[in-house]
Amino acid sequence: MTAKTNLTVNPQRLWDTLMDTARFGATPKGGIKRLTVSDEDKKVRDWFKAECEKLGCRVEVDEVGNMFAIRPGKRSDLLPVAMGSHLDTQPTGGKFDGVLGVLGGLEAMRTLVDMGYETNAPIMLVNWTNEEGSRFAPAMLCSGVYAGVFSVDYAYAREDRQGIKLGDELERIGYKGAIKAGAVKFQAMFELHIEQGPILEAESKMIGVVTGVQGMRWYEVTVKGQESHTGATPMGLRRNALLGAARMIEAIHQVGMANLPGVASVGLIENRPNSRNVVPGEVFFTVDLRHPDEAVLDLMEAQYKAALPKIAAELGVEVEEKRIWISPAVKFAPELIACVRAGTEQAGYPSRDMASGAGHDAAYIARVAPTTMIFVPCLGGISHNEAESTTLEECGAGAQVLLNAVLAYDRTLA
Ligand code: GLV
Ligand code: MN
Ligand code: MN
Repeated sequence: MTAKTNLTVNPQRLWDTLMDTARFGATPKGGIKRLTVSDEDKKVRDWFKAECEKLGCRVEVDEVGNMFAIRPGKRSDLLPVAMGSHLDTQPTGGKFDGVLGVLGGLEAMRTLVDMGYETNAPIMLVNWTNEEGSRFAPAMLCSGVYAGVFSVDYAYAREDRQGIKLGDELERIGYKGAIKAGAVKFQAMFELHIEQGPILEAESKMIGVVTGVQGMRWYEVTVKGQESHTGATPMGLRRNALLGAARMIEAIHQVGMANLPGVASVGLIENRPNSRNVVPGEVFFTVDLRHPDEAVLDLMEAQYKAALPKIAAELGVEVEEKRIWISPAVKFAPELIACVRAGTEQAGYPSRDMASGAGHDAAYIARVAPTTMIFVPCLGGISHNEAESTTLEECGAGAQVLLNAVLAYDRTLA
């Protein structure tokens, strides 16, 4: 094996890039609203493409807008080693979720270029389309298309709550590429991300060596009652859809509480007609169940499904629910985890092994290529929040371990 390298990333440059690109969708509270395939997403994509081209990378865009920047290596017969995450955010997102993985990868790429370091394999940096699943459900949609989990047509047909289709929006912003999804191949992928939870901070660890991702299931629920006058309809004669939804939300919360460390959440709700003097006639809400063990997730699903009709019957309302998405629990590739461990030791950071509570593109990519992730702490474990905060040192540490891990893997290809 050739000697270890000592390439050092520039944390200040990474930080400046994170703060600079936060202008694309900046919110007054210091976060980012950069919903996937929006005008703001187009702006950051254009910027990302230009930056990668400045580094001498070729940038390819596939038919679902996934972006791949490729720097050649010594051996053109080898598939690239990839780093990647996402540049889209939640509606009240922070500056780091996803963005750190892409811009940390960009910092690693900039470091390779500055030092004129030639890797054995080409190195690739990926921006996956619609990781968040907030505007267009489900999450991790276009890494899922890449991995063959969803068809291209399924992705194009996803609608936001205004009825706008993802395929039309991709075309409108100029990111429906000509290349078939899955055609731009790589041999392994490392994803850097903030932890989005409190463990690293609580234990004063700089790096999370991520061993897998918990299972996730998403559902959509519609409760139907009867619209009627709030003043004139006696309490005992109401068919109140919102009251039904409220009791169901409590029952769903209890499903999580009964299956710890499982989690059960309702995050989106629409009440119709949403008028102060109309008993609500229809409510739509979403459900998100997660657990590291698929057998327990089955149980949680059964408990959730049993609770809804019981509550509906008590209140004289109707309920329909459907599961719209499953992302099974994932275990990452041991040979890549070993590279992250080696890269962390090389940099001298305290670390611990951990599973991811959040979904990530890496979870789908793991189906088609060896994949793993690197976590860094975030303040108070807060994420999906404009206040999301991670320090310059933590971002720099993550990018350094990412570069070290990629190079550790690349050295095995000599
Ligand atoms: C993606 O951010 C998810 O975990 O839902
Ligand atoms: Mn993310
Ligand atoms: Mn997210």
